[in-house]
Amino acid sequence: MSSATLLTATPSYRLGEYHAFDSADTAFLYLVPSGAIFALDRLGKEILDRVAGGSLSRPELVEALLDCGYEQRQVQSALQEFEHAEVLQYGERHTEPAAVPERTFPLQRIVLNVTNQCNLACTYCYEYSADKISKTDGKPKYMDQQVAESAIDMLIQESELRPKIHVTFFGGETLLNFPLLRSSVGYAKRRSAEVGKHVDFSLTTNATLLNEEVIDFLSSNRVGVTVSIDGDRELNDRMRVFHDGRGTYDTMLPKIKLLLQRHRTNSIGARVTLSSGVSHVRRIYEHLTGEVGFDSVGFSPATANPSRLYHIGPQKMESILGGFEELAWEYRDHAVSGKQHGFTNASDTLKELHSGISKAYSCGAGLGLLGVGTAGDINLCHRFVDSPVGKMGHVNHGGIDHTARRAFLETHHLGARYDCHTCWARPVCAGGCYHEAFIHYGDTSAANLHYCDWIRGWNDLCLRIYGEISVRNPVFLDRFSDN
Ligand SMILES: C[S@@+](CC[C@H](N)C(=O)[O-])C[C@H]1O[C@@H](n2cnc3c(N)ncnc32)[C@H](O)[C@@H]1O
Ligand code: SF4
Ligand code: SF4
Repeated sequence: MSSATLLTATPSYRLGEYHAFDSADTAFLYLVPSGAIFALDRLGKEILDRVAGGSLSRPELVEALLDCGYEQRQVQSALQEFEHAEVLQYGERHTEPAAVPERTFPLQRIVLNVTNQCNLACTYCYEYSADKISKTDGKPKYMDQQVAESAIDMLIQESELRPKIHVTFFGGETLLNFPLLRSSVGYAKRRSAEVGKHVDFSLTTNATLLNEEVIDFLSSNRVGVTVSIDGDRELNDRMRVFHDGRGTYDTMLPKIKLLLQRHRTNSIGARVTLSSGVSHVRRIYEHLTGEVGFDSVGFSPATANPSRLYHIGPQKMESILGGFEELAWEYRDHAVSGKQHGFTNASDTLKELHSGISKAYSCGAGLGLLGVGTAGDINLCHRFVDSPVGKMGHVNHGGIDHTARRAFLETHHLGARYDCHTCWARPVCAGGCYHEAFIHYGDTSAANLHYCDWIRGWNDLCLRIYGEISVRNPVFLDRFSDN
């Protein structure tokens, strides 16, 4: 430190970067970028009000607080805590984007696109619609055993010291290649046991090909199942149709009931894709939990270029947020009385907030997760499989292309998403899905600015709910601490 620095006057405090919210008669701060949540007492509020009200150095602030009757010890400890948590800072404000990791992350999960074929023709499907980016010409329709085994070997090797790995089966319609799924589960278990790792499995399916044999296999191997269904017959059949246009609901329903009845070893959730004509959040949730019997339901808006008819415009997104809000408050009521609620969008966000997540990347794609196409090509994630975008090697020809992966991580880091640098929600959002960005802006590295208000609205709501649960039934939050 130079003598010039020593001679400067005691610097003034300035407020750190946070989002303030009130819940259960308590004032909270959500600290950016650490992602921590802070409950304020009377002294805490007084400190923030005073610093907001004018420039004050630490000695000036201490003196003012002592004059108000606070004790020296109390004041010093509060200021120390605020400085440590960066609620109070000195000097010029500058955004310090989290650093790009020195090395690539060990792999945790691969998504095997076991087929690029499907027995349905859902209108919004990014695999076959006008927004399709995968180039499957010349690629096998079904993944074979050799490719699947190489992909699993790659996962084991690239997971480095991670004790747990995960294989997700995906499609096209995943169950069109059930024989490969079955043999791959056996192979992954054998190989993982040899190297002392634990492997678990999941799949996403349209449910139309489920039968007793398939269900019993999934159950005895603890395969987690996500069923794609968009609500009751009328809503589901608007978009989820066979190639001849017939709705799928009546085919799926008995099979889903059989699945829920026979498969009890792992989670089975419903996944709803919302679109412009299917945005009835509460109606869908009630049908899928009450009448079909799912314990958990998650919603995701369809990714679509704004020119598509099923694209959800800003007004519809607003009404979807209203539906989310209703279910989220219901989630709060359940949580306060210690009961589980099946709205997974709320539980997923609360879990992230509880963990104090501060993302440098919006999701695990290219990081802990990679997608593998039927021919063995490696891509960013399942949505980019077999696309020229996000290509990262081949399971049989050199494995992961670490140069391409590194280049991706450098250009898609939050630090490079400049639009996000002033947003308080960046620790949980980090700019959003690369596929959504590509379909909307033609650029995977663009921040999804069309979703910003929605994301901030949703996270503010979840913070208020988190605050309320933390005051009224804090033990409920313990469930979010697991693993
Ligand atoms: C592509 S499918 C593959 C697995 C299986 N065929 C199924 O339907 O579950 C996986 C999930 O992606 C969803 N999906 C399809 N197109 C989508 C889009 N444009 N935006 C968001 N989700 C989409 C489907 O509804 C489904 O839940
Ligand atoms: S069932 Fe799945 S893969 Fe097939 S068209 Fe529908 S969403 Fe796409
Ligand atoms: S890029 Fe999008 S679709 Fe792919 S893993 Fe990330 S959030 Fe999911």
